Amino acid sequence: MSNDTAFPAERLREVARRRTFAIISHPDAGKTTLTEKLLLFGGAIQLAGTVKARKSSRHATSDWMEVEKQRGISVTSSVMQFEYAGHVINLLDTPGHEDFSEDTYRVLTAVDAAVMVIDAAKGVEAQTIKLLEVCRLRNTPIITFVNKLDREVREPIELIEEIESVLKIDCAPITWPIGMGKHFRGVWHLQRARLMRFTPGEDKVSAQQEVIEGLNNPALDAAFPDEVARLRGDVELIQGASAPFDLKRFLAGEQTPVFFGSAINNFGVQEILQALVEWAPPPQPRDGGTRMVQPAEPAFTGFVFKIQANMDPKHRDRIAFFRICSGRYSSGMKVSHMRLKREMKLSNALTFMANERVHMADGVAGDIIGIHNHGQLQIGDTLTEGEVLQFKGIPYFAPELFRSARSRDPMKSKQLQKGLRELGEEGAIQVFEPFSGGDLLLGAVGQLQFEVVAARLQAEYKVDAIYDAADIYTARWLTFPDEATRRNFENEQYNRMAKDVDGNPVYLATNRYNLNILMEKWPQVAFHATREHG
Ligand code: G4P
Repeated sequence: MSNDTAFPAERLREVARRRTFAIISHPDAGKTTLTEKLLLFGGAIQLAGTVKARKSSRHATSDWMEVEKQRGISVTSSVMQFEYAGHVINLLDTPGHEDFSEDTYRVLTAVDAAVMVIDAAKGVEAQTIKLLEVCRLRNTPIITFVNKLDREVREPIELIEEIESVLKIDCAPITWPIGMGKHFRGVWHLQRARLMRFTPGEDKVSAQQEVIEGLNNPALDAAFPDEVARLRGDVELIQGASAPFDLKRFLAGEQTPVFFGSAINNFGVQEILQALVEWAPPPQPRDGGTRMVQPAEPAFTGFVFKIQANMDPKHRDRIAFFRICSGRYSSGMKVSHMRLKREMKLSNALTFMANERVHMADGVAGDIIGIHNHGQLQIGDTLTEGEVLQFKGIPYFAPELFRSARSRDPMKSKQLQKGLRELGEEGAIQVFEPFSGGDLLLGAVGQLQFEVVAARLQAEYKVDAIYDAADIYTARWLTFPDEATRRNFENEQYNRMAKDVDGNPVYLATNRYNLNILMEKWPQVAFHATREHG
């Protein structure tokens, strides 16, 4: 048992004040800017510009492997913990841009809520669609921030309609913008019936925001003679056309509260924090395989959702990012490693405070700890205090990019296979072995994964490999109703079949059209875009 059984009430209080979330967005929508402003409100950084500065110069301070340096991937920005309004907020970074990878998806399996940032000029973009699909797997509640209202952007009503139709989620506007671009005046808070006035260029956190209460307040007519009629019309329209915010539907992932603002001007950001604190759920129960695990339970449990390799190349060091699901972490505690069926001592776990890594003294459900290890932890691994559990919901995602790999030196083929198998098991890349033999196939969701694997094969396994393009559009894991169907299908599609690291049958499609035809032809075969670990 954890050492806190004497103070369960204190731990329960700690759990209840946790909010663990991620920001999802398409590159350039404003995720970094919003992160920075959130940290600013949380007091985790004193000055604006810190996160952004890091974004461009992070690699200067790290001495990790080359690829990480070039890409500026940094573990320090992977998890940011800060306090706001009596709550402990864990913000998990979802790597984007060039460093988009399976990690981006997996991070979303470890959060209890997400903030979706939409660029108001561009609307719903490709990466946002993908990331939202991943949130859907667990019905994660979504808070929406429509950003950049200080620019000439699209009509708000059109954006709402696009979010609803493309992302298939109902919108409940909480604030509504008055004007845009040069004429952006502020937002009307539909629930509180008051206007918050926009003043551009706020770098600091202004304690006092100018507010006008009541839609019929003459102060509104005086302050905004040109806009007030439209505002009154808009408010009537919105309240007539959209359903009011419904906490239950939000928590079920069916409805999203929508806020408008301008992250760079620090406008509308505080409302997001407020929504997180008031509406987003505290750490949620998790499916432990045999039963649901409640965050309030005293025994420590959790799972690994991400591995960061080569923090220190000299030590082949890896950090496993671990989400605590119940109980309490304390330094030096002994836990059971479910997959390896052995005991493990957890000491010197790391937590991540905005700018630096610090050793973690204590952690409860909802917190993320970083565990140093030398490869014994893999993505999806469960640690407990003895009870046999296997947390679900940290899947492999169907890759969309493929390469074949062969060793430049034929004598090193074995070494290549070993390296790829181990990297595949660790979750750095997906490895497929074609039924027909030949080169191993690598699958990824982001280009960076190939670069990391190539660099690690060279550094850790001394293999120089050649990576060729592969004519594959995507992969689908298959399940069959019976053996006869499996045999028939595999015989017919032999040249498009492969095995994954765990020996599961996978169909490699050349394009979406062929995949659809095949699915129609074999209705009794199930084609899965994700697969559970383990
Ligand atoms: P990302 O992490 O989602 O990729 O986006 P990021 O925050 O880096 O923002 C992308 C660009 O959009 C940046 O401009 C940023 O300054 C700008 N931006 C973010 N929020 C707002 C906003 O509310 N209004 C306006 N007008 N712009 C915003 P950049 O030119 O690419 O970078 P920088 O030169 O400003 O650093």
